[in-house]
Amino acid sequence: MNMEKIEDFLPSQRETDLVFFVNGKKVIESSPNPEWTLLWYLRKKLQLTGTKYGCGEGGCGACTVMISQYLEHEKRVNHMAVNACLTPLCAVHGLAITTVEGIGNVQDKLHPVQERIAKAHGSQCGFCTPGIVMSMYALLRNKIKINYDDIETSLQGNLCRCTGYRPIIEGFKTFIEVTEGATENQKTTHCPMGKDCCKFNQNNEDVLFNKSEFQPYCPTQEPIFPPELILNNIYRKSFLFYKGNNVVWIRPQNLKDILILKKEYPCSKIIVGNTEIGVEVKFKNKSYPILISPKLIKEMNNILVKESCIEIGAAVSLKDVEDFLRNQIHESKEKVKVLNAIRDILHWFAGSQIRNVASIGGNIVTASPISDLNPIFMACSANIIISRFDRGVRKLVIDQNFFRGYRNVALDDDEIILAIEIPFTDDMQFFKAYKQARRREDDISIVTAAFNVILDKQNHFVKEAKLCFGGMGPITVCAFKTSETLKNLPWDEDMVNKVFKSLNDELLLSISAPGGMHEYRKSLCLSLFFRFYIYVLNEVKCIGLENNNKDLCGSSELPRLKPKSSQCFEIKVKNKINHNAVGKPIPHMSSMKQATGEAIYCDDVVSVEGELFLCLVFSSESHAKIVSIDFTEALLEPDVVAFFSASNLSKELNKMGPILKDEKIFSDKIVTSRSCVIGAVVAKSEYAARKAKHLVKITYEKLQPVIISIEEAILQGSFYDGYPRKIEKGNVKKALLHSKHVVEGYIRSGAQEHFYLETISAYAMRKEDELEIICTSQNPAEIADTAAKVLGIPNHKVVAKVKRIGGGFGGKETRAAVLAIPVALAAYNLKKPIRAVLDRDEDMQLTGYRHPMLIKYKVAFNDDGKIAAVIYDVYANAGNYMDISCSMLERAIAHVDNCYYIPNIEVNGYLCKTNMPSNTAFRGFGAPKAMLAAETMIRKIADILGKKYEEIVDINIYKEGNLTHFNQKLTYCTLGRCWKECIELSDYWHRKQLVEDFNRSHRWKKRGITMVPTKYGISFHTDLLMQGGALLLVYNDGSVLLTIGGIEMGQGLFTKMIQVASQVLQVDVSKIHISEMATDKVPNSQPTAGSMSSDLYGMAVIDACNTINNRLEPYKTSNPNGRWEEWVFAAYLDRVCLSATGFYAARKIEYNRETNVGDLYEYFTYGVACSEVIIDCLTGDHQVLRTDIVMDVGESLNPAIDIGQIEGAFVQGYGFYTMEEMLFAPTGEVISKGPGAYKIPGFSDIPKEFNVSLLKGAPNPRAVYSSKAIGEPPLFLAASVYYAIKEAIKAARSDAGFDMEFTLDVPATCARIRMACEDHITEQVKPTIMKKGTPWNVVP
Ligand SMILES: Cc1cc2nc3c(=O)[nH]c(=O)nc-3n(C[C@H](O)[C@H](O)[C@H](O)COP(=O)(O)OP(=O)(O)OC[C@H]3O[C@@H](n4cnc5c(N)ncnc54)[C@H](O)[C@@H]3O)c2cc1C
Ligand code: FES
Ligand code: FES
Repeated sequence: MNMEKIEDFLPSQRETDLVFFVNGKKVIESSPNPEWTLLWYLRKKLQLTGTKYGCGEGGCGACTVMISQYLEHEKRVNHMAVNACLTPLCAVHGLAITTVEGIGNVQDKLHPVQERIAKAHGSQCGFCTPGIVMSMYALLRNKIKINYDDIETSLQGNLCRCTGYRPIIEGFKTFIEVTEGATENQKTTHCPMGKDCCKFNQNNEDVLFNKSEFQPYCPTQEPIFPPELILNNIYRKSFLFYKGNNVVWIRPQNLKDILILKKEYPCSKIIVGNTEIGVEVKFKNKSYPILISPKLIKEMNNILVKESCIEIGAAVSLKDVEDFLRNQIHESKEKVKVLNAIRDILHWFAGSQIRNVASIGGNIVTASPISDLNPIFMACSANIIISRFDRGVRKLVIDQNFFRGYRNVALDDDEIILAIEIPFTDDMQFFKAYKQARRREDDISIVTAAFNVILDKQNHFVKEAKLCFGGMGPITVCAFKTSETLKNLPWDEDMVNKVFKSLNDELLLSISAPGGMHEYRKSLCLSLFFRFYIYVLNEVKCIGLENNNKDLCGSSELPRLKPKSSQCFEIKVKNKINHNAVGKPIPHMSSMKQATGEAIYCDDVVSVEGELFLCLVFSSESHAKIVSIDFTEALLEPDVVAFFSASNLSKELNKMGPILKDEKIFSDKIVTSRSCVIGAVVAKSEYAARKAKHLVKITYEKLQPVIISIEEAILQGSFYDGYPRKIEKGNVKKALLHSKHVVEGYIRSGAQEHFYLETISAYAMRKEDELEIICTSQNPAEIADTAAKVLGIPNHKVVAKVKRIGGGFGGKETRAAVLAIPVALAAYNLKKPIRAVLDRDEDMQLTGYRHPMLIKYKVAFNDDGKIAAVIYDVYANAGNYMDISCSMLERAIAHVDNCYYIPNIEVNGYLCKTNMPSNTAFRGFGAPKAMLAAETMIRKIADILGKKYEEIVDINIYKEGNLTHFNQKLTYCTLGRCWKECIELSDYWHRKQLVEDFNRSHRWKKRGITMVPTKYGISFHTDLLMQGGALLLVYNDGSVLLTIGGIEMGQGLFTKMIQVASQVLQVDVSKIHISEMATDKVPNSQPTAGSMSSDLYGMAVIDACNTINNRLEPYKTSNPNGRWEEWVFAAYLDRVCLSATGFYAARKIEYNRETNVGDLYEYFTYGVACSEVIIDCLTGDHQVLRTDIVMDVGESLNPAIDIGQIEGAFVQGYGFYTMEEMLFAPTGEVISKGPGAYKIPGFSDIPKEFNVSLLKGAPNPRAVYSSKAIGEPPLFLAASVYYAIKEAIKAARSDAGFDMEFTLDVPATCARIRMACEDHITEQVKPTIMKKGTPWNVVP
């Protein structure tokens, strides 16, 4: 391709400057590189770091900014939220960009959106906050009166991993109240106190936030759109040509120009939303040298209503299509059935940021087999209008011949799509499209189905039919034979059975077909047709339904409901004085900065001249010998500076690992998983480093076996040395022998990815012979310690700092070292600042997960249901290195009892050594998986005895003074109270009755309701970790700088510590600041983990404050009416030392592993949850209708933070138990490497009613200010959803005549739920799956 010649085909009058506005300021970029994204430009060139990188693939919303554009024909400005990570910089010519920094800041004034998310406690780690703020801001700029649906729709494309969304929704709902009146939340209560609830005696301190403090929102105060962009239409008209080193960007002015370019350069690409091209370039290493934007081409940007169809320009955005179909179609209901199907499906298509830019033509040409629109276009036989320079226009019907192969359509390279024609429908025509995805919102489909039938008006026989499917092969499929079979059949049950049979024969899937879930996908095709059948029956009121209203619920999907919530808590000291701060719901101290984008995270540190970027090279094999590593080609690349590998370190130094040191910093001989780091490329730019990474050639000799799953590890006897670890109590053998019932069972849970929004990053700078490392670690002291050892220098020459991290959840406790240590090594050796940020796919491949676990149990009990004995075999998939799996297993085996007294027990814990990436800590550690075993077992006992689950709980639940299976006596045990209050709070018995009534009258929707208790032990199990240090510096103006050994990751630790300091010093919280954690302020600190940090550092802070108080005592005595500032200044003048350290060492853990005696935990945190769900038996979808939680947090240090932790943990746990599924190929390759394939809960997934109540009057004598640790304990309560789903499945199975014995592994995904709701459909599908070949995926 002769790129030089391209300019010969361009007009001489062309614009080469890129002009746009950012936050009101004009930016002129005279040599824009078409490879730059808007995100890169904002962050790196303009230093506007408020906009965050979370995934780079449009899946998290952290990079959301608002783009505003003047629409000349409508004479108005349109605002839209977009993903800056997918927006090519060249696409913003003539547009105005608003970033989070442009709407408000802490010093001048926050924008109401920023203020409300911060004050409503909607920002924890804050990494998602700027993106969420900008989505909401764009909504308010576009619409004056908003309703709840608007909020939910505009936030579809934003994820938050910390808050559980509820507080964000509550904060933003206040923008609705202006038009919709007061919220229901303040008028009702679910508190067991009934009318005595604090809500009814409300003063302003008893709410989590006070709306009256919010500044009013006034749309007229918003910044104006730059007049220049309205007045100067050159921006909207000119021919653009931007030339980079590898790529050119062209924006022609008319169709002819575009067609000439396409003719001369058939390899050139039309680019519209870049939502496909962007992902292909970033993650699939594709390169497209000529990009052509059709933005000015009228023929491609219009929507026209014609006589028999509507014509939609190929470049029209999906949002504009949706709006047009919603608001501007005035045709009769009969005519618009296809259009309505498109409109409905578009609601579930990606998130709003994607829909704002993605085009309809882009979707067709991409030809993804899981496209949402193509099955519809095929089912309605839409026409596409195609143009080519020398052939003019032709029309092509979208049918089975249009899709030629995987992502390949019948379009020649020099052709473009101008528009698509979508036909109107007839009177007796019925058209529906259904999409099924792992997550209901913002997810690509598993299967999409579009059904089109025309019935005879008289007898309802089928005249025409077309059944089309996405997700059933490499292309969109028309079930041609089945469609033909349907013709001339009456619309009745016989017809359905014929269709089922025919679909089963026609849609073939084998177990190795990409996508997995083979039985499910096929069942879906049949089930969705069944849904359509009922829908049509109901529409035409055919015979068959009147007598069977129970079936009617099968015709629709689960409804969208508005969420509501309540929070019950007590504020003991009701005054406004902020130096009595303990116990008050003070917002997170950084929340304002987080909401304005001013909060600094690791990669926000300002770049300095000469800085280099480091990129890791890691294994592409799961188990292999490294034969050679050749990096010569990489080093030859311009801008590449160095390559580090094992050859840069002696064998002794090339080691790390938190406990065993069994990991190599750089692997050189053998790789044991795809997370093994082999080397690191250092270059002058991120672009160069990433490019060079692919040029490092590594040859391997594959080794066997490759063990990924627990079952395979058991088969191969692949365990870590020293296992099984046993706990034994009582006489199990005897109890088994003497019990009436002995039953076995198991529970299996999968891998959960942390998915913190900020990926692991590091920045290191050598200063003389010292090194400073800024990193995203929950354990900076360990980073500094390992770096010092690797560099061979003493610890006092290495400082590690963490200001805040964008979520950790355990994933940054040990694994942050994987990146930080190579960065430290490179910075020290090259004497240059080094920056490194893992891309999301790298992070998901390298850093491990929550351990998959298999627990087998054998339980003995008698007729009353009382447990006599249990044997548990616990198998955890530890991956290729030990990491802290041994500690995880300790917690697991100490929590297999959950809340139940087991007099005789034997626990055998195994750590499986596999070739999956080393698994690591994750909120709750081993407990949330282990406790499942006890809960599953209790329910099994109930089933076997035919008794109620609650009865079995009552008889076995721990009581005050009981001994656990590790012989710790339970004192201050509030479990019974939590249970009772949760029953009352949730109105449990009454609702259980209603659920049964519902289930009796509905066949295809079922409800389930259940309770789950939890007991979580607070301690690290290891004395060494049970210590905390603090440093308190008081300055002579009275301001206080506090540093603690723990880090802030959104959990509110810094805020709580400031509250504690303010209480002890009796100083207003505004006078106290925590800047960061740094190892040169507090040495030898331990990881911020295990929910223990408030307990440990709280005591250390008290210790430091007491020292200062003692020193100030004389000045207070001599001036009793003085102010803090006066006492401090007087002491300063007197040369009193105003800095103090504080330290706390918890009492020694007296537990003896050998004898299984002594207290293992400081105390326990208790809680109970009740959840009700509804499932769709045809698709496996579910919705949590309501969750009530009663949690004992002692006397809360900060109810807002504690409730935030409960809700956040619950939603994260909900993801674990129901949705989040890490996928691995049998080779060990990670399949789910980003938010596109790995789904964490989104805004619409939270319980539709979410009530949280903190147990009152339950002080904890064992921790700071009678509080309790809270970060991890609530996570298990989300298992209530899993068990409620099981209850609903039981109801479905009972209707279908199947027994109550079924397996439901964790997570209970839609696929597993559907397949557990066995019925006539699943029965006939299962035998048709071809079993030959290697399965597509393996469950680890
Ligand atoms: C986070 C995310 C979520 C997504 N969710 C969904 C989803 O739920 N459902 C779904 O179906 N898809 C989804 N997609 C895929 C994607 O958004 C759609 O396929 C989208 O419609 C592509 O449009 P675009 O304008 O961005 O295409 P681009 O990336 O700009 O182009 C895509 C391809 O189409 C070609 N092309 C575009 N227009 C023309 C034309 N007029 N003539 C010839 N060739 C043309 C381009 O050259 C290119 O090859 C998602 C993508 C992302 C990143
Ligand atoms: S970084 Fe852009 S959507 Fe995630
Ligand atoms: S606050 Fe949303 S990701 Fe942390």
